[in-house]
Amino acid sequence: MHRTIEPAIHYWGTPVVLISSLNEDGSANLAPMSSAWWLGWSCMLGLDASSQTLLNLKRQGECVLNLASTANAEAVNRLALCTGTHQLPLHKQWLGYRHVADKLGEAGLSAQPSEQVAPPRVRECQVQLEAQVVDIRPFGTQDPRLPIASCMVELRLLRTHVDEAILQGAQSERIDAEAWQPLMMKFRQLHSSGGQVLPSRLAQGPEERYAPWKLRRAS
Ligand SMILES: Cc1cc2nc3c(=O)[nH]c(=O)nc-3n(C[C@H](O)[C@H](O)[C@H](O)COP(=O)(O)O)c2cc1C
Repeated sequence: MHRTIEPAIHYWGTPVVLISSLNEDGSANLAPMSSAWWLGWSCMLGLDASSQTLLNLKRQGECVLNLASTANAEAVNRLALCTGTHQLPLHKQWLGYRHVADKLGEAGLSAQPSEQVAPPRVRECQVQLEAQVVDIRPFGTQDPRLPIASCMVELRLLRTHVDEAILQGAQSERIDAEAWQPLMMKFRQLHSSGGQVLPSRLAQGPEERYAPWKLRRAS
């Protein structure tokens, strides 16, 4: 039996990302978010237009997407309700946010230099994706239930750094899906993604079929 409901939020379960970006004074900002998805080497983010991260992306155009695993849950929790903005917007005052200048310190995480972008990577995250901004547009402008100005941010991934512990082998470029345990946000709660449910029919055949540029390189 289904019931028609009107939930306050639609956070059905998405991986948590810690975005590092550069503040105007050159210091690093770090923000947890989970409205992110990938297609090829492109990525789309949904961000609160008032967030320091969005201001940084508009100005400097680069970031690192540090994907959180279950091991990073406490660090993510420490960053919740924190913002790098000095002037808190009304909705964040109402929600109990506070300004934090040193987000890496607040989270107990350490910076690692990036290779192609200025914002640092987060050493403790097993996946670090260096990226540059392609496009930023308003999002949800026709949605009367979206209470805050929001933006969609299209990114192009430039570099992928992965802890060997989650690779299928030291020389492999493939991720071991059992070893990689992304931290998921479901209805504001932090969850693990659990184990495999069923061997996937989609996963038949080489992963490289999704990347013709890899096949060309091999032949
Ligand atoms: C687990 C988690 C997921 C979040 N997901 C998002 C999100 O997808 N988009 C967003 O704009 N804010 C999200 N937030 C809230 C941001 O962290 C918040 O806007 C924060 O102010 C961003 O930091 P900044 O202002 O320093 O950029 C999330 C927070 C947490 C703890």
